[in-house]
Amino acid sequence: MNVPNHIAIILDGNGRWAKAKGMPRSYGHVKGCANLETICDDMKELGVKYLTVYAFSTENWKRSREEVEGLMKLFRSYLKKCLKISERNKMRVKIIGDITAFDQDIQEKIVQLEEFSKDYDELYFQIALNYGSRDEITRGMRRMAQDVAEGKLLPSEVTEDAIGNYLDTAGVPDPDLMIRTSGELRLSNFLLWQMAYTEFYFTDVPWPDFNKAELVRAIEKYNQRDRRYGGVKEE
Ligand code: FPP
Repeated sequence: MNVPNHIAIILDGNGRWAKAKGMPRSYGHVKGCANLETICDDMKELGVKYLTVYAFSTENWKRSREEVEGLMKLFRSYLKKCLKISERNKMRVKIIGDITAFDQDIQEKIVQLEEFSKDYDELYFQIALNYGSRDEITRGMRRMAQDVAEGKLLPSEVTEDAIGNYLDTAGVPDPDLMIRTSGELRLSNFLLWQMAYTEFYFTDVPWPDFNKAELVRAIEKYNQRDRRYGGVKEE
């Protein structure tokens, strides 16, 4: 089995999973968070090198105050717990997205986790928090325009690679496989630039139920794909 180098996942369906069990949405997020721990171990075992998950979008602030507060509480405890997970898996953790919108203590926990894990290189784990691809591109292009205005970058140096270097994901290879759980068939503003050639896999399984067997199923499907990048198929 050819294991993708980089897998991106849209973690969806926590709320519906909980509702189906007659439980509050927050219970789904707690279970979804626990599943994130397990899936990191699975990725490491399978030999995946890069994992990026979409945990909180720029749009998610519109949810009820109760739900947003519950998620912030979960982020706080997860960011702390993640120090152990990163040590266990020799996993480097990087947060992508605009973290300035979070409370100061959450921002500090993020910096601490990134600093703690910066020398690990067996799994590179990106967590998208307050992330939106258009926002990421806008922030990046603003910095790029500033550099051009200051003469640090020539217009002729604005290449695809240069643009990639201004994104939050700078230095990380593009995803090979994107998985979205829980039945929705859209990208929801996730890694629009980076997923130009990524294979997509959609499953009805809600995130809290997405386990190693489901992951292997997604990788097997990926193996059946014919990745041509617009070129001619090799016979
Ligand atoms: C989408 O499911 C999920 C979210 C908006 C939050 C994802 C959060 C986690 C998996 C747990 C916390 C993560 C970290 C990094 C600590 P939904 O609630 O939109 O489900 P629904 O579509 O069924 O309503």
